[in-house]
This record gives sequence, structure tokens and C-alpha cells, in this order.
Amino acid sequence: MTPQTHKITVVVPKTSLDPNPIIHEATVSAPTNIACIKYWGKANSQYNTPINSSLSVSLDQTDLRAVTTASASSSFDRDRLWLNGIEVLDASTSKRFRACVDGVRALATDKVVVDPATGAKCVVVTKDEWSGMHVHIASYNTFPTAAGLASSAAGYAALVAALVRLFGAEESYPGEFTAIARQGSGSACRSLHGGFVAWRAGGKKSDWSDSIAEQVADELHWEEVRAVILVVSDAKKETSSTDGMSDSVATSELLAFRAREVVPKRMNIIEEAIKAKDFESFGKVTMMDSNQFHATCLDTYPPIFYMNDVSRSVVQMIHMYNAWAGEIRAAYTFDAGPNAVLYTLDKHVVELLALVLKYYPAQSEDLVGDYVSNLALAQKALEFKLCPSLMEAVEKTGRVHKHGDVKMVYCTKGGPGPKTLDPCDGVFDFKIVQS
Ligand code: DP6
Repeated sequence: MTPQTHKITVVVPKTSLDPNPIIHEATVSAPTNIACIKYWGKANSQYNTPINSSLSVSLDQTDLRAVTTASASSSFDRDRLWLNGIEVLDASTSKRFRACVDGVRALATDKVVVDPATGAKCVVVTKDEWSGMHVHIASYNTFPTAAGLASSAAGYAALVAALVRLFGAEESYPGEFTAIARQGSGSACRSLHGGFVAWRAGGKKSDWSDSIAEQVADELHWEEVRAVILVVSDAKKETSSTDGMSDSVATSELLAFRAREVVPKRMNIIEEAIKAKDFESFGKVTMMDSNQFHATCLDTYPPIFYMNDVSRSVVQMIHMYNAWAGEIRAAYTFDAGPNAVLYTLDKHVVELLALVLKYYPAQSEDLVGDYVSNLALAQKALEFKLCPSLMEAVEKTGRVHKHGDVKMVYCTKGGPGPKTLDPCDGVFDFKIVQS
């Protein structure tokens, strides 16, 4: 797939107070993340803290990312937000948006510029002056919104990271920015780091300042890990994560048991597996945790169904693949939607993609370039000769070569945390102008 250029210009009316207002601006991109140990259930809804710790992989930003420009000016008459070019009219009163804007602005520092001629430092905005300015935020994301691909995680992480940059904010304790992002969307706190990231549930401090995300290992530590995402549906999900987890906390006894007894052990297992680069253990605990999360959804009353028949066929195919290989070569995980994320290692990715393209093919072979995000890899996979005994094993599950079950396949890997972008970097022509 060829890289896209996104040209987005948000035009806002000029204020009559100041015809040439000074607008301070920062643009940042942030990754999505996919959890291996799932966050499901809030301990405190005011602080948006979880009943259990969780762990995820932040994904490379080449295909999937949120990009946010945050701007502030004394000429803005109110806080405003645009998502993918469309204004969100009630944004400034949204609790999540307010928590992020007010939380980061409270940590603002003086903006200092250096005169290139004399080297003298000059404060152009004092820390207190920031609080008198409103913000305009424009955010764009490159993946199917609300389809269980953690778009809100990337979006709120990009918002917080852009505001941090704009206000020159400084943390008063380590992890404070992640505690702010968590109030936007819980999983967003993990997108403020790259690589493998744990969100520690916290709860020992009354203000929940210990409910923060921290990096377990960076994206270079285990570079061989790959993620193959099967977009089974790009429609908005029926039950939002927030509503779903609230119902699960209220009704599922399995969820309480999971948070108390199961997850603490799994966090240890997966962190050890990551440190030791042990895919067998990493893959097994990832699959088991996805299954248990969806079991708690089924145990919710009335039950919530995020996975569908296509999702379940992927689960069966992966188990057949691993049984055939005699080792765990791929691990599935599903969030609050039917899309599958398959973790594997570089050495198995062509074989796994060959399997995916065989049983979940594009509408026509000509379309494979639009169907798979990485054309070179797709070509290798199409040429790969799958072992007949593997195909026989998969077909025992009833799976047949069927077009249309999967809409799009992203081949990606772990990646870094938020990046500051030059607004004119050519990929994103993304700005707020006044008319
Ligand atoms: C299934 O972070 O979207 O993806 O805090 O209410 O915004 P809120 O929920 P959200 O929930 C994500 C749930 C999950 C699992 C995970 O990412 O850990």
C-alpha cells in the first residue's frame, strides 16, 4: 500500500479582538496499542482506574496512528476539537477531554525562546499566561474508528503528548502524563510509551497517582515480534468498552476472580517472557487472556458478544497451525470487537500470512495490494507453498477458502511511543488557519 498524504486544514474564524493573533502550536503522532493482558473493569470511574493491571504492545506508526495538532492563543474564545476534520461540538464539556487539557495545562512551564543573534533568553509565555488561553485541537487517525483497534488509545495519547509539547509541561512525579492520558481513555496511558508497556493498576494512593503506565521493554528489545491484524469489521461496535466493562463489573463474578487471582500471575509470566524473548510463553498467556476476557463478556448479564463466527474461525485456525507446528508460532488476541490481532515472529510471518491469504483471501488477487498493508510481504506469502498436512489440519475445522470475511490485513510490528512532527513534513499537511 502506498503511503498516503493527508491534507487537512481546519479553518476557524478570526477573532475581532486581535487581527493578528499569536498562535502557539505543536503536532505529535501517537501509536495504537494492543493488549496481551487485558484491561477490563474500572475500580474508580472518576479517576478511570482499572481493577487489574494490563500489558500491551505499542504498534509501529507507519500504517496506524493518530496525529494531533494542539494550538493555544489568547485570541481563541473557547476550547474546540476537530476529529478527522469535523468539529466535535460538545468536546469542551466532555469530562475526558477536560481531564486531559486541564491536567496537562496545570503542569505548563514558561515558554522560552533564544534570540539567535544575541543568545539571550526571553520568556514569551509565562506559565500563568497559558491558563488564560483556550486551545484548538485537530486530530486525525488513519485506521477504522471504533472498530476495536484502540483508536481512542492513540487519539488520547496523541492529545496528551501534543499538549505536553505545546505547554512545555513537566511531570511532578514519574508517570504523571500517563495518569492524565488514562483519564481520557484507560488504554491511552499505554500508548505514551513504545515497545512493551505495563499499566500498573495502582490503588495504594488515594489520588490514584500510582495508576500509571511504564515501559517493560522498548521496541528494539524484541524486534522479531510481528503483528498481523485482520480487520473483520470496520463498523462501530455495538457495546462501547466503557459501557461493557461497567456491566461486567456489576454482574460477572468471573471478572472479580480474574482481577484478583489470575491477572497478577499472568503479568509476571508475560513480563518474564518478554525479558527472555520466550514466544511460547508470551503467545500462550496472550491467547489465554484474550479467551478469558471474552469469557467475562459472556459471563456478563446480559452477555456481551464482541467476537463473531469469523473471529472464532481464526482462533481455530491458529490452534491448528500451532498444533501442526508442534510449537506456538502465532497467538491471537481480540479486543472489544471481532478483529483479530495475531502476534508472531519474523521467521514465521510469511507462513502465517500465506495461511491467512489462503483461508481469508482478498476479493480478487489483483486487489491484494489494497488488501494487505505490506505488498512485498503479501507477494512472498502468495508464492509460499503451504504444507498439505497443514491445510488438511485447518480444513478439519470446517474452514474453506472464503472471500470477504476479512476486509483488510495490516502487517506491522512493535514501535516507538509518540513522536513530535514537523507540521510540514510532507506526510501530514495538517494545520489550523484563521480566515
Ligand atoms: C478491550 O481504554 O477503550 O481494549 O477507559 O473506558 O476508555 P475506557 O476503555 P478503553 O478499554 C480498552 C479495553 C480493551 C482491552 C485493553 O486495551 O486492555
